[in-house]
Amino acid sequence: MAAVRTDSERTEKGWEPKLIAFVCNWCTYAGADAAGTRRMLYSPCVRIIRFPCTGRIDPHFIVRAFEQGADGVLVSGCHPGDCHYVSGNLLARRRFAIFKALMDFLGLEPERLSFSWVSATEAGKWVEVVNSRVEALRKLGPARVPWGTLSGPPPSLNGRSVAPMPQEPLSQVKPDDYQAVESQLRQLAEGLLATGQVKAVLGYGKGSLQQATPIVITNATEANQLIFNEHCVQNLTVYLTSPSFRSLRPLGVVVKACDSKSLVGLLQEDQVKREDFRAIAVSCPGVKVNGRWADKCLSCDQRIGPIADHIVGSSEPKSTAGADPRDWEIQTIEKWAPAERWNFWMNQFSRCIRCYACRAVCPLCYCQPCIADKNRPQWIPTSPHLKGNVSWNLFRALHLAGRCIGCDECTRVCPVGIRLDLINRRLSLEVAKRFGYEPGKDPSVPPPLATYRPNDPGEFIL
Ligand code: FES
Repeated sequence: MAAVRTDSERTEKGWEPKLIAFVCNWCTYAGADAAGTRRMLYSPCVRIIRFPCTGRIDPHFIVRAFEQGADGVLVSGCHPGDCHYVSGNLLARRRFAIFKALMDFLGLEPERLSFSWVSATEAGKWVEVVNSRVEALRKLGPARVPWGTLSGPPPSLNGRSVAPMPQEPLSQVKPDDYQAVESQLRQLAEGLLATGQVKAVLGYGKGSLQQATPIVITNATEANQLIFNEHCVQNLTVYLTSPSFRSLRPLGVVVKACDSKSLVGLLQEDQVKREDFRAIAVSCPGVKVNGRWADKCLSCDQRIGPIADHIVGSSEPKSTAGADPRDWEIQTIEKWAPAERWNFWMNQFSRCIRCYACRAVCPLCYCQPCIADKNRPQWIPTSPHLKGNVSWNLFRALHLAGRCIGCDECTRVCPVGIRLDLINRRLSLEVAKRFGYEPGKDPSVPPPLATYRPNDPGEFIL
């Protein structure tokens, strides 16, 4: 990538926008080449980086461009139907739609990130697109360099919320609701272990300070160590991909309705086989985090999730479901001006200490090695400074787009309280709106960013 001017160079020499263009070799690059051959004049502020296809242009490249000081990024390739690799641009269109939604939510000015289809014969269109983008960047001024600067106090989410969501619906939940499930669970686990249907049961046991903690029992006589109550909040499916659990297969795993959705994701992505586990689905009235009902429980209308080999307790849908409070907060953020949103998120990310607890508890963060740990090339600076923190949190959000099942474990364990749940939920809403896809429903349906429809919306593409 071309070297990017430092702030001092900009001041000394007068500022000119720097537009990084990621283009496909076969159409847009040929179009840009044609513009040069025909001696067409256009802004010299663009730096072109050529790829074999837009399908190869990963959103991570765009994050890196901004991180290294680009004022704007343009991605351009063949028109739909013209891709030399058949569908690279159609897959890319889905990824870029989600990436754009993410950047809008974070508060990046929309004009800084553009997409276009420019064919080899459209030299004139290439010139127009570049000139219009550079003009827009000139009006906006320099991007916030370095990536992730803090400028002033962030707006307060609580202060701006329309109203805190009521917790009343779940107040009807009684301790008896859990006790009945707990005793049935113990009986079932005992039977499964005694008959050898599972080698071990992964469930909840008593932790310190009245909390629940994950436990593994391998003997029927240990079944009375299992508990189920409002503190059983951990998503235990995270352990299914751990090498330490391989010798315990088939493993009986206790799952709440929300946890069961991550089993769908793991099956979809071929991370576990159906015969590796037996899902012990416990009828869940709701769980508490820090003494309050978890946000996800307020809108949950299911007691049992999509994958259940054994059902413990009632499978009747819940009557207590209301609106999701996270949606209220997302709407509040979206009403803010881009600069306010940016400031809010930079403030959130500035607190990140890069403990990777969010990654450790996420059942769908299973890559080995994780992109955050790679050092050749190093995609993400590893020290906990704002620049690298922004990249890490963006990369993670992008990796989970269309896959996150909303268990909110990442937010629960974050020691500095970063609202990762809002980012994940915002992207889930975008995926649902654009592609009609809801994660955690059907293991036979491919994840939304691994497929495409020829008529996917592309209104954001020039
Ligand atoms: Fe141009 Fe695929 S070859 S977008």
